[in-house]
Amino acid sequence: MAPEKDPDELKKGFCWKLCQSRLCLVLVFLGMAAGIAVSVPMVLLSKSLRERFAPDMKWWQKTIVYQIYPRSFQDSDDDGVGDLRGITSRLDHFQYLNVKTIWLSPFYPSPMRDFGYDVSNYVDVDPKFGNLSDFDDMLKTAHGKDLRVVIDFVAGHTSSDHPWFQLSQNRTSPYEDYYIWANGTTLPNRTIVEPSNWMSVFGNSSWQWSDERRQYYYHAFLAKQPTLNYRNPTVVEEMKNVIRFWMDRGVDGIRVDAIPYIMVSEDYYQDQARNYTATAVWTKPAYYITNLTKNVPDIGDIVKGWREVLDSYEDSDDDDDKSRFMIVELYDTPEVRNRYFEYGADMPFNFDLVTALDNHYQVHGNFCAAICIRDAINNVYDNLPKGKWANFVLSNHDNRRAASRMGELYVDAVNMVLLTLRGTPTTYYGEEIGMEDIFVSYQDTQDPFGKKYGPARYQEKSRDPERSPMQWDDNKNAGFTNSSHPWLAVHPNYTHVNVEWEKNSTNTTTLKVYRDLAILREEPSLQYGLLKFTDVNPDILSYLRSAEEHPHFLVVINFGQVPVTHDFPGALVNRGQGRVKVVTSQAANEGRFAKDSSVPLTQIKLQPGDGLVLELAESGK
Ligand code: GLC
Ligand code: MG
Repeated sequence: MAPEKDPDELKKGFCWKLCQSRLCLVLVFLGMAAGIAVSVPMVLLSKSLRERFAPDMKWWQKTIVYQIYPRSFQDSDDDGVGDLRGITSRLDHFQYLNVKTIWLSPFYPSPMRDFGYDVSNYVDVDPKFGNLSDFDDMLKTAHGKDLRVVIDFVAGHTSSDHPWFQLSQNRTSPYEDYYIWANGTTLPNRTIVEPSNWMSVFGNSSWQWSDERRQYYYHAFLAKQPTLNYRNPTVVEEMKNVIRFWMDRGVDGIRVDAIPYIMVSEDYYQDQARNYTATAVWTKPAYYITNLTKNVPDIGDIVKGWREVLDSYEDSDDDDDKSRFMIVELYDTPEVRNRYFEYGADMPFNFDLVTALDNHYQVHGNFCAAICIRDAINNVYDNLPKGKWANFVLSNHDNRRAASRMGELYVDAVNMVLLTLRGTPTTYYGEEIGMEDIFVSYQDTQDPFGKKYGPARYQEKSRDPERSPMQWDDNKNAGFTNSSHPWLAVHPNYTHVNVEWEKNSTNTTTLKVYRDLAILREEPSLQYGLLKFTDVNPDILSYLRSAEEHPHFLVVINFGQVPVTHDFPGALVNRGQGRVKVVTSQAANEGRFAKDSSVPLTQIKLQPGDGLVLELAESGK
């Protein structure tokens, strides 16, 4: 069960606000005059008064974070690749959606071997995406529309084209130790092999021989993505300066890429032990126990250092709205994730919904339904450290889209879950209209991770399918570009899955449902209220969101594959009827439920994929 905000914290927040105001001074003065100085705060904090105020929440706790993959969002110069001016031209979309934060995947100069996650200059914009003044324009326009901008910080590795690497490779001072260099191990037969058996996340050895330097260098991902050496204080400072560069321009936060891999053990020659529980093949990191190459404890100090830099930008007046946000990317258990809270990240990404939905699909040929979704969510809340804030993700540029994993029928339902949980939701571009993965032939495959696996297996790994162009309208190439060669194909369903159509249709659409949810999310109960699962069975997922003194909301969704008639338990039924605030598109279009109508909490008939958010009267007392 979700921990309700600690009442003491609420009290503190309220008291603090009051005591900054003039009203406070006047009241305290009057109180003292009457000789009841001690009782004044008690009077002010009477229960009903106190609970009308929201707890102090930072901006990143109240917003939806929307991920833009710049290559695929909007092309402004007809070269078939999305760019910053394209993004600027589409910012109204977020006002329509009621989304208040965008996160941009990398747009820095890059040879694009990993599509921007291989940076050759951290403090500029790749000409494909525009230039620094396009960035400034985008940021200013976004801020003018009350939109925060978070950027990707590819902290662990550069491109091998980065001048730092070139200079390190030829041992130019002071760059010699900017990367992780090691001699090979000489075998008895005098052949020289890799220092150790460490594996790249993308498969095969993570050591690459440099003919020029006559040493091996370490790379956690592609060989053309050498890992930086954070044991070198100059590197630590260089990377802090990168953060400063963007914060000085006014950026609101960073998403730190692949945090567990930014450092490795100091002992490059120690082999990793075999992991006998893993089923992975020997070319993959999971074949070994990865304690030497993943989440090494020294990462803590690095994150702490970034936190200090970010905090130095927070205004001294302690206005929460000025805080700079840091979210770090890792796929791991709550136990490992939680370390990053301690190090100073505002949130470690929580991919448990992605993983739950994926595993069940692959393992059982069936998706993760109600009980499995509830368990995944409970696991997040149960393991959240006190005072920390949860977050949820459904998909991103590295994972299949929700519609392709769950089926079109459940798209509104999963968006409904994402946007009604307690915690910050991240939405990958296109999920608000229910975009699906595209098919890409091996010949047309762009993603190096896919290509590496060859024609027989590339589809398992390639991330191209979920990176196709955003579908804006039913013009050529879905309004993404005027070029006849978008960098990836547009999904053929763009004629009816597109923003324009979904906005203007007289039907209820995935886009409208998303928007309804995004607006309703501002209700105190949905923003910070308690989350309590009601009666969950294999088909029905249902939970109540409640903040005292505010309307409560009951979410009910049929995640099963057959129609269900659902009765809520007596206690809920006693609270009267529910008013429909959001209804999934199929249920609305087929006339089962209408927005703003009242429904009794017994005998609710839900088809597979149907979901409702019902408003209940106040606290039901
Ligand atoms: C992160 C990114 C992924 C990239 C990898 C290497 O996992 O999300 O797209 O390939 O890091 O930078
Ligand atoms: Mg372009």
